[in-house]
Amino acid sequence: MLEEAKKLVQGESAPVYTTSTGCPIYNSLASARIGKGGPILLQDFHLIDLYQKFDRERIPERVVHAKGSGAFGTFEVTKDITKFTKLKMFNKVGKKTPMLARFSQVSGEQGSPDTFRDPRGFALKFYAEDGIFDMVGNNTPIFFIRDPAKFPVFIHSQKRDPQSALRDNTAYWDYLSQNPESTHQVMILFSDLGGTPYGYRFMNGFSSHTYKFVNDKNEFYYCKWHFLSNQGTKSMTNEEAAEMFGINPEFGRQDLFEAIDRGDYPSWTLYVQIMTPEDAEKFKYNPFDLTKVWPHKDVPMHEVGRMTLDKNPENFFTDIEEAAFSPSHMLPGVDVSPDPVLQVRTFSYPDTHRHRLGANFEQIPVNKPRCPVFNYSRDGPMNVTDNQGSMPNYPSSLQPLAKEYHEPNENHEKWVGEVTYHMDEITDVDFEQPRAFWERVLGKQPGQQDNFVKNVAGHLSKAVPVVRQRQYKVFGRVHPELGARIEKSTEEEAQKATKTGNKVVNQGNKHMFEPAN
Ligand code: NDP
Ligand code: HEM
Repeated sequence: MLEEAKKLVQGESAPVYTTSTGCPIYNSLASARIGKGGPILLQDFHLIDLYQKFDRERIPERVVHAKGSGAFGTFEVTKDITKFTKLKMFNKVGKKTPMLARFSQVSGEQGSPDTFRDPRGFALKFYAEDGIFDMVGNNTPIFFIRDPAKFPVFIHSQKRDPQSALRDNTAYWDYLSQNPESTHQVMILFSDLGGTPYGYRFMNGFSSHTYKFVNDKNEFYYCKWHFLSNQGTKSMTNEEAAEMFGINPEFGRQDLFEAIDRGDYPSWTLYVQIMTPEDAEKFKYNPFDLTKVWPHKDVPMHEVGRMTLDKNPENFFTDIEEAAFSPSHMLPGVDVSPDPVLQVRTFSYPDTHRHRLGANFEQIPVNKPRCPVFNYSRDGPMNVTDNQGSMPNYPSSLQPLAKEYHEPNENHEKWVGEVTYHMDEITDVDFEQPRAFWERVLGKQPGQQDNFVKNVAGHLSKAVPVVRQRQYKVFGRVHPELGARIEKSTEEEAQKATKTGNKVVNQGNKHMFEPAN
């Protein structure tokens, strides 16, 4: 650094530049050398220290939801729901719990644009008095799959081709057209309402899954969580998203950061839908099927409280990148339901956290519970706590741990049956809710059905013909008019592409685009 510039930034109170071990350094921008212009010396610890740190800066990005942004805030209870749950953070109107939110895209890498058509993640971490509670949802009330064995392959079909490392529209629709339980999510994703939200402040968040509430009498209920944006919902059309991509691909991140920075704090109101176990037995849909909503007229919403985000991260890496959200981080009063996708998620997230962040990821400040932790687990790499000091590390009769407080959720569901590995059958029932979405949600708003058809056609036209044909049949099961309209527009788009720009070629298992000549 020039001596002049150095004088400007180094006032009397400026911190002294040091190595990682605190040793003050005279000139941080020069290596120790032999004479003027000679070779460097290995004994220059500062230089080695600098490189050791730099060479290890990157940790693995999240395997999904890699691109995201977040902020801190508070959840405040506004309505009494203690008859449904004994969750301590909900036990009093007016009670406030500090929290963190992270919003994300699903399939892109860390550098992918915020304008990409993709579901948005909606992950929340509550620092409750009795531990950490995470609600890891999306901006869509349902999802593509209902058997967890499909998740990794579904994600592969949306990511990059193993050979060309290009996004592959054929793989994308090949998977979806073979697995039509995805149709409801596809409908929401390709509408203007779900796939291209206007940043993160104007979208709703859903648990999507059914969870369980348990009250202090050990009675249980099934519930779905809805965080509705108090800013209202706002989306971009395909064209607006494409334009924004050219102008500012970081639009979502910037919009959230700047709104909080200027004191325009975004907030969401939490509602829950509640179902008794008896009603669950009689419900017209499987209440644990992640591809189905609970229609509002059948299962009304109950207000719970409001979350407000009012503090930007101080440091993006430590506050957002190192945050570890998991559906398995639960507290007494809430529990997993028999939804098999939710059950697998409770394994997958902490497993990936140990890979991404290390065995003691819970000790990283952003993940640390704000209550004491006592158990018999100890040690491990990068343990930075007091390691529970001299407390016994086994169930000692001489110095017992505090009593086990949490009453188990016993005598709830009873499951009997034989072990089976059957593929889920697709029936007409699977198309009822996509049809309601097409007719009642998109049909209600002028231009939305047209935009949906256009959005699908632009994307599907870049898949090979056999896959396109299969997907038309799937949309035809939603509504004959929808199937016909998608087919017409998609084939027109494909024709246009062949004449003027990119044509699709399918060489064996390679689905690539090459310019027409
Ligand atoms: P409802 O009419 O009671 O609910 C429709 C839902 O769609 C409401 O949450 C509504 O939000 C939302 N919606 C409508 N227009 C828009 C829009 N422009 N932007 C964002 N969201 C919008 O019907 P049902 O409960 O019977 O559901 C019908 C279909 O609606 C479902 O098949 C599903 O695809 C979709 N849907 C249902 C939800 C649910 O939990 N039941 C949640 C979200 C979507 P608002 O209340 O603000 O109008
Ligand atoms: C992130 C797995 C379904 C919402 C992740 C991560 C994994 C994963 C491994 C990366 C976590 C990390 O590195 O911290 C799975 C599996 C699923 C599944 C195996 C199904 C079998 C879902 C569903 C939703 C969802 C249905 C929403 C309802 C999210 C969100 C994140 C995420 C929001 C980002 C969390 C964050 O901000 O750090 N998922 N997922 N996932 N998933 Fe899932």
